[in-house]
Amino acid sequence: MQSKKTYYITTPIYYPSDKLHIGHSYTTVAADAIARYKRMTGYDVFFLTGSDEHGQKIERKAKERGITPKQYVDEIVSSFKDLWKLMDVSYDKFIRTTDGYHEKAVQGIFRQLYEQGDIYKSSYEGHYCTPCESFWLERQLANGCCPDCGRPTELVREESYFFKVSKYAPALIEHIQAHPEFIQPPSRAHEMLNNFLLPGLEDLCVSRTTFTWGIPVDFDPKHVVYVWLDALSNYISALGYGQEDSADFDRYWPADVHLVGKEIVRFHTIIWPIMLMALKLPLPKQVFGHGWLVLDGGKMSKSKGNVVDPVKLIARYGVDAIRYFLLREVPFGSDGVFSNEALIYRINSDLANDLGNLLSRTVAMTEKYFDGVLPAPAAPVAGEDDALLAQARALPAKVEACMEKLLLPEALEAIFALISSCNKYIDITQPWLLAKEESSRARLGTVLYHLAECLRFAGVMLQPYLPNTAPRLFEQLGVPVGALTDALALCFGDLPVGTKVHKGEALFPRIDVQAELQALEAEALAQQAEAEQAPEATVPAAPPEPQAPAYIEFPDFEKVQLRVCRVLACEPVPKSEKLLQFTLDAGESEPRTILSGIRKWYENPEALVGKNVIAVLNLRPRKMCGIESQGMLLSAITGEGAEETLSLLTTLCGDFPGGSEVG
Ligand code: ME8
Ligand code: MG
Repeated sequence: MQSKKTYYITTPIYYPSDKLHIGHSYTTVAADAIARYKRMTGYDVFFLTGSDEHGQKIERKAKERGITPKQYVDEIVSSFKDLWKLMDVSYDKFIRTTDGYHEKAVQGIFRQLYEQGDIYKSSYEGHYCTPCESFWLERQLANGCCPDCGRPTELVREESYFFKVSKYAPALIEHIQAHPEFIQPPSRAHEMLNNFLLPGLEDLCVSRTTFTWGIPVDFDPKHVVYVWLDALSNYISALGYGQEDSADFDRYWPADVHLVGKEIVRFHTIIWPIMLMALKLPLPKQVFGHGWLVLDGGKMSKSKGNVVDPVKLIARYGVDAIRYFLLREVPFGSDGVFSNEALIYRINSDLANDLGNLLSRTVAMTEKYFDGVLPAPAAPVAGEDDALLAQARALPAKVEACMEKLLLPEALEAIFALISSCNKYIDITQPWLLAKEESSRARLGTVLYHLAECLRFAGVMLQPYLPNTAPRLFEQLGVPVGALTDALALCFGDLPVGTKVHKGEALFPRIDVQAELQALEAEALAQQAEAEQAPEATVPAAPPEPQAPAYIEFPDFEKVQLRVCRVLACEPVPKSEKLLQFTLDAGESEPRTILSGIRKWYENPEALVGKNVIAVLNLRPRKMCGIESQGMLLSAITGEGAEETLSLLTTLCGDFPGGSEVG
């Protein structure tokens, strides 16, 4: 018997230092959809996730709460597992870096690198960013702060072990250049080469002596292993590397993909491959750096007026709605924007309207016209049926092509394109008119059969993304889970004539936008109050970390294309409470469209027509409420909450035609 092809996919292992917000669930839900897809298409999949429990950051947090680090992580890690269960994350293994087998494996790795001369003892003087668990040299600091996160670093002076990473840099550079698929998206490969590898690597400090919450170096136990060396090893220790039973390692390594957030690509594409080279192990086939889910006005953690607690969101809308939003909204390699408005819009338009209505109409018409028994199709009608049938038949290959490149939103788009074609097919064929004439009965049967069969195709392909919805759809269509829901056996026309449909509850009830946004605002306020009142610590909480000014260089500033634009038209976006749509003369051949969330300050938007405003033209275009916004308007803001006041920036004197430079 030929054995199945294997597929090994990992998520990062999360720090149990913060409560997980909706952004964190992105990586894991995306990995889950990929894992489920690969299983569905015949692979033997190993899907790994876990928790990264050591390091100074965790030690400090535990101290703040007056408990031991282990007590602290145990509690949070169990909440991670609860969340993944709630989100239907089908991981094959959850690794904790405090697991005994992992600790032993890391000690073995450290010892091997020491014995072969790749790790040596010296003393370290430099700067450490605890939130990032990252070392920096004086010259790498940005204005005295961490160049990654902008927070202050600490000067550390200690006896340390060092890893000769520079020795492996030429081989790594060669590998990256020879394997364009290794780092995805490609922009991240350029960044790693140009900013880190080509300028030259410094030997990496890989042990600490000033705290104890880590894996001790077994031959020199006052040292603990640097947390990133510890954490990265999880990808092989979880498979049994360096242990008695290494069958999984032999079977699944090298990984097919490490899915990671863009801020940790550096660790995964420089330190990790160098560790593997030193251990003489094959490198992972791909490291995929995805973008972040950000809040409309900035970082996820500073939530204002948005419910971002995944547990609360799931309680309101159900898991699949949240999974759908996450998978649909973060494009390949770039950031996605989270807002409660966008979430509700997606649920209403894609899930309730397009998918939910299609199913309920199809089932209802089958009940009404054929007593719920699926009729036999007659020959397809050219011009009306063939495009739809071709689209359904082509769907599996189309989804496969997207998933091959991990283009999750595009895979969903392809499935929903079929759903939307079905809705159009109903509009064109008008089954309710066909039902009026006995002579059109065969045609009516054909239309309903095609709709049911397309829905089966969509349901089968949706299984990895919406694992709860697909079975509910099959149930209503009367399709038993088995051969007919097997993606590898999809064949248009296999749905047996005579299948009995069952009308059920709406897959996704439509949400009343206005009422829901009000309720969410109340919830967000309650959430904030709760966070403020929570007895956070038995010891006083640490003062907030001051945010140091992070300077940018003039060439960075110059990249921003600031221009005067004349307002040609300005009107509220119908589906949104916040947005105004501007049509602008930016001195270009076509007017520009820019959306701005400032509706509440401009009750009379037409009054802006003719004014000069200032826009950033080269901000990455972004779709909101179905409209692409091609830039951003600058405004001045003061006050907070109800006190907040805002004014668009305009030019004060002189006549500046659209397109005039601002600098
Ligand atoms: O970095 N949108 O752990 P972590 C999308 N322990 N992804 C987000 C996000 C957001 N708003 N916020 C966080 C670590 N993430 C290390 C990993 S691996 C050997 C060690 C993602 O808990 C983030 O990009 O800080 C990262 O991929 C993951 O959550 C874990 O972050
Ligand atoms: Mg992080």
